[in-house]
Amino acid sequence: MNKPNDKPLKFDVRSGLRRIMSQARRVDLKTRATSFEEFWQAAVDANESLYFREIIGPQGREVTIRDSFTGEIRTMLMFGSNNYLGLADNPYVREKSIEALKQYGTGLGGPPLLNGYTQLMRELEERIAALKGAEAAIIYPTGYQTNLSLVTCLPEKGDLVLCDEAHHASLFDGLKMAGVPHKTFKHNGLEDLEEQLIEFRSDARDAFVFVESVHSMNSDLAPIPEVAALCRKYTSYLIVDDAHGTGILGERGRGVGEHFDMEGEIDIVMGTFSKAFASVGGFAAGPSHLIAYLKFYSRPYMFSAALPPSVLAGVHACLDLLEKEPERVQNLRDNVGYVVKGLEEQGIATSSQGGCVPLLVPPEINIRRAAFAFHELGLFMNPIEWPAVPREKQRFRISLMATHTREDLDTLLEAIGRVWALDAVRE
Ligand SMILES: Cc1ncc(COP(=O)(O)O)c(C=O)c1O
Repeated sequence: MNKPNDKPLKFDVRSGLRRIMSQARRVDLKTRATSFEEFWQAAVDANESLYFREIIGPQGREVTIRDSFTGEIRTMLMFGSNNYLGLADNPYVREKSIEALKQYGTGLGGPPLLNGYTQLMRELEERIAALKGAEAAIIYPTGYQTNLSLVTCLPEKGDLVLCDEAHHASLFDGLKMAGVPHKTFKHNGLEDLEEQLIEFRSDARDAFVFVESVHSMNSDLAPIPEVAALCRKYTSYLIVDDAHGTGILGERGRGVGEHFDMEGEIDIVMGTFSKAFASVGGFAAGPSHLIAYLKFYSRPYMFSAALPPSVLAGVHACLDLLEKEPERVQNLRDNVGYVVKGLEEQGIATSSQGGCVPLLVPPEINIRRAAFAFHELGLFMNPIEWPAVPREKQRFRISLMATHTREDLDTLLEAIGRVWALDAVRE
């Protein structure tokens, strides 16, 4: 309930969210939910909300949407999808998914432990284990649930959990659920990590270090060999989130292990099927005893239905293509390099070791207006606003695909130059 001295929430499009968030703990649910709804509607009315764009066709280098501003059906160039290898609309992947749909129907109605374990899932576990050079693998409904599982299941009170401060939200959400204390170290900060291992390792029973291979927002690569060396030195488990590395890193797109020539040397590699594998689902690969333990002790696995066979078949098909046509990985890398170079030529510094290119928004530019300008120019670009990233690091996360053409990339680069020069996007 509101306390009697609470002032009613007042907001405008620009400061509203911060105010609503800062007051959220002091007002009742109805007040904060209606305030947020009004704030969001005001942003929509001011052409400053591009969330929930309605897509009405497949997810390729182009995508068809129903434009909520004009009601028109439009085709846009897609630079906001993690469909990195461009396989979401691939005819072979579609065909394999349809075959499985015909053979198995739409779903299984239960978790793998009971009635949801199919031949497709067993074979996919084997292929994912082989992809990561691991003994075994487990398949989850999402990558998010995979991270929840790893942190709620593996560490116990009395263990040391050290996480990169910039790790994906799923890990931190899992830590809240797990209720185990954890510490963070500076993003890719080896010195900080070692200092904390020196200080805390000896008091702990087991220790776990969590890092992302390619960071989801910065697209920078963690120094995995050095982190692994520290883990060996201080007898700690290394758990790498390879969501943005699988299908992207290494000559054959096998991910972090292939890139660093460390296959089988990382205790657990997790990843997702929602990016390069163009679908949905998650996995963890590692030693057979840890995978068996996860299968019986991780609650997000136990208490959630298995992925539908059509999804598993689609992922199998993506793996077939990765094996048969590894040039897709190189195409993606070439596209990333082309965009980074093109931006540099416009005086915009950036870098990327993954499949997306971060485009930081200069302080004088309003990110929502810039997003709308891109939208008007026919480019589907995702604004990443505070509080998802710090205010001074607001950005567009340009997701590239192996299937983007040079013409697409030139259109993108030209549009960025045009939008950055517009008076209408200035604060
Ligand atoms: C680094 C990282 N880990 C985990 C996830 C969760 O993956 P999923 O989309 O399969 O839930 C994501 C997705 O955004 C991610 O970027």
